[in-house]
Amino acid sequence: MTDNGLKERTLAPGEPLRGFWYAAMRSSLLQRGEMRRQQLLDEPLVIFRDKAGKVFALDDHCRHRAMPLSFGSFDGECIECCYHGWKFDLEGRCRHIPALLPDSPIKLDRVRVRSYQAAESDGYIWIFMHESNNNDREPPEVPQLPVFSERYRQCAISRTLACNVDHGIIGLMDPAHGPFVHQSFWWRSRHSIRTKEKRFEPITNGFRMSAHTPSSNSGAYKLLNLYGEPITTTIDFVLPNMRFEQVRCGPYWFSSRALVTPITRNQCRLDFLAAWNFFRWLPMTRTIFRIFAHAFASQDQKIMEKQSVGLKDNPRMMLIDDADTQAAWYLKLKASYSESQRNGGTLEHPLKAPVTLRWRS
Ligand code: FES
Ligand SMILES: [Fe+2]
Repeated sequence: MTDNGLKERTLAPGEPLRGFWYAAMRSSLLQRGEMRRQQLLDEPLVIFRDKAGKVFALDDHCRHRAMPLSFGSFDGECIECCYHGWKFDLEGRCRHIPALLPDSPIKLDRVRVRSYQAAESDGYIWIFMHESNNNDREPPEVPQLPVFSERYRQCAISRTLACNVDHGIIGLMDPAHGPFVHQSFWWRSRHSIRTKEKRFEPITNGFRMSAHTPSSNSGAYKLLNLYGEPITTTIDFVLPNMRFEQVRCGPYWFSSRALVTPITRNQCRLDFLAAWNFFRWLPMTRTIFRIFAHAFASQDQKIMEKQSVGLKDNPRMMLIDDADTQAAWYLKLKASYSESQRNGGTLEHPLKAPVTLRWRS
């Protein structure tokens, strides 16, 4: 038992880490005065945008008898439950219980729906999913996609994946599926497999594929050679669910972030956001990029749907060196993080020093 009397427990496979910001939805999906139900980490939330444009989030259960508040009516300031008309403000405080007489001893301010901290960044509404035993912790800064110039183009796409967050993340960092899943004339074919050697280094809460020249068998990078400047790529994975990729080519840059957000135990969502400042002379780059990104994400979505058929039987699986070493690091990092949260100790990083991994892909 810990000091606060909560039972110690380790994370179950696929169980998401708490104590982080998670992207709930695109900001554009919620206009002023609107609300929307959204599951996050298996918790049903209702997310609001008030009249002034600020976002809020509450547990989507009425404190009275669990009616989803999202079935009620929202006037831009308070939510009224559709069952017995209890009203709550956007901090979750009960403001009115129609059935009470004026002399009722019930103290309205003691009746509360659980509220969550909400914020906006990069065109997403983010919710801080605090640890169940540490609701008052001040959340860290809301994640932001790094950009390197004032003017740039941006594109966001998202896809639902039929698997838990661990399989979603492992699929994202898996180098060996490329030639089989992402076959296309403009990217690669299964005959383009060759030996890869990449250096990795530990970073805070994650690991980095150190800056390197991208492999010449990726067609998309060949285009960048038009600029005649050296090209480098850096790829970071950071807990709980973020993969950042940066490509630099002289003054030109490309920056992307893929998030795998746990929605329910068996479903997550891939949110991909990219920004870039090259090929500005080329018309419709955003449209072209969107078509390629959609094609890429659909290939991942389809393969994971097929994998989910096998995962349902809960069979034994394996990770191989070195192609799956990043997946093993992710699982270890996640376990160490959760352990350090429980014991208040420092995180034991699975990477003690830079290492080189070799695989064929
Ligand atoms: S269930 Fe919401 S007011 Fe009764
Ligand atoms: Fe993929």
